[in-house]
Amino acid sequence: MTTIAQDIPATPIDPFSNEYLLSPYAFHTELRELGPVSYLTKWDSYVVSQYQYVKEVLDQPSVFCSGAGVGISNFKKEPPWRVPSLVLETDPPDHTRNRAVISKTLSPIVLRNLKIQFEAEANLLIDRLLEKRTFDAVTDLAEAFPLKVFADAIGIIPENRENLILYGNMVFNGMGPKNELFLEAMSHAAAVNPWVMHACQRENLSKTGLGIQIYDAVDSGIFTEMEATTLVRSFLSAGIDTTAHAISNAIHSFISFPDQWAKLKANPLLAKSAFEEILRFESPFQTFFRTTTSEANLGGCVIPPNEKVMVILASGNRDPLKWDHPDVFDISRVTVGHLGFGAGIHGCVGQMLARAEVEMLLQVMAKKVASFRFTGEPKRLLHNTLRGFEKLPIELI
Ligand code: HEM
Repeated sequence: MTTIAQDIPATPIDPFSNEYLLSPYAFHTELRELGPVSYLTKWDSYVVSQYQYVKEVLDQPSVFCSGAGVGISNFKKEPPWRVPSLVLETDPPDHTRNRAVISKTLSPIVLRNLKIQFEAEANLLIDRLLEKRTFDAVTDLAEAFPLKVFADAIGIIPENRENLILYGNMVFNGMGPKNELFLEAMSHAAAVNPWVMHACQRENLSKTGLGIQIYDAVDSGIFTEMEATTLVRSFLSAGIDTTAHAISNAIHSFISFPDQWAKLKANPLLAKSAFEEILRFESPFQTFFRTTTSEANLGGCVIPPNEKVMVILASGNRDPLKWDHPDVFDISRVTVGHLGFGAGIHGCVGQMLARAEVEMLLQVMAKKVASFRFTGEPKRLLHNTLRGFEKLPIELI
């Protein structure tokens, strides 16, 4: 059990309770008001929620490391449930080398070509949904789009791609404590883990996707075959659920704020800034952890070494000290500096690809869909890390 430094307030707030997960924003306000750092008594973890200090944590990776896990579990004290990610859960210098191999596959010319494919697929999908009219926007739109376009871009076999949703769910619920959400997600591990590793092997990737390019680093002696498979896996863990929840959150926000949908329809090129505002307003990736490597000082609060620190991006994204009217969804807002993709050396390596996907989808929707409405009660997803929906029954009009 940690001894809490005297200048750090302790709080009974439980960021993994159902009450918090369904409606986190009032809790974020309470946490921000406690100061730069507070201590979660239930989970023996420190927590940082103000914009300025979230940024400070992310900008000091040598003090707040990722190698001991970016979930609540400290890999120095307990073994991880999977082979750790070679990017997300790794520190420099290995992180720098491994990330560069992924970045190299995502060149501007590759992204430009992918954008053309994303637009074509968005047109096909929205035409199909316009015929269908009523559907669940989570499965039929938000998940269906990245399962098609992102998995095609990586070069994943077409069969059983729904495993990617289950896998993302394991990775991100697995960052929380061993609660019901964690156990439910992990109950699929026996079937899903072998499928994912199989899909990431060289011989099962398409010859033209991004995944196979990672194996060039094996051929030039940088990685072993197994490391390359694990690196291709990083695309899959990080790239599907996050994007799917961003799309669900977009649909929900536009139905809840019809004036913003009207604004986008009037100018579909606003899709770019709309996506950034969605990431700020309803961050799909709400929270992750770091571990202190030495004594860490944040705004005069001193955290001892080898402690877990919860970092609430979503709270930084609604901190009134940083944003005017933070609880208002405004697609023409200047969102520079939002934390939806993280920040610093671990800031999302796939952000340009995610932007290309969602921007194209929103643009096509703005051109083709007059409006939409809920046909039933939206059901929020209970999730240890991500914010999105389980069900979003809608009708396109
Ligand atoms: C809307 C969609 C997405 C969101 C909201 C998102 C968010 C994030 C965030 C917040 C981080 C930082 C994690 C940390 O600091 O510990 C991150 C890292 C990462 N993301 Fe994304 N992401 C998205 C899409 C993607 C896509 C499409 C890809 C793949 C092309 C991807 C690949 C990665 C990888 C590999 C990392 C680890 C980077 C590192 O540790 O250096 N993400 N993402």
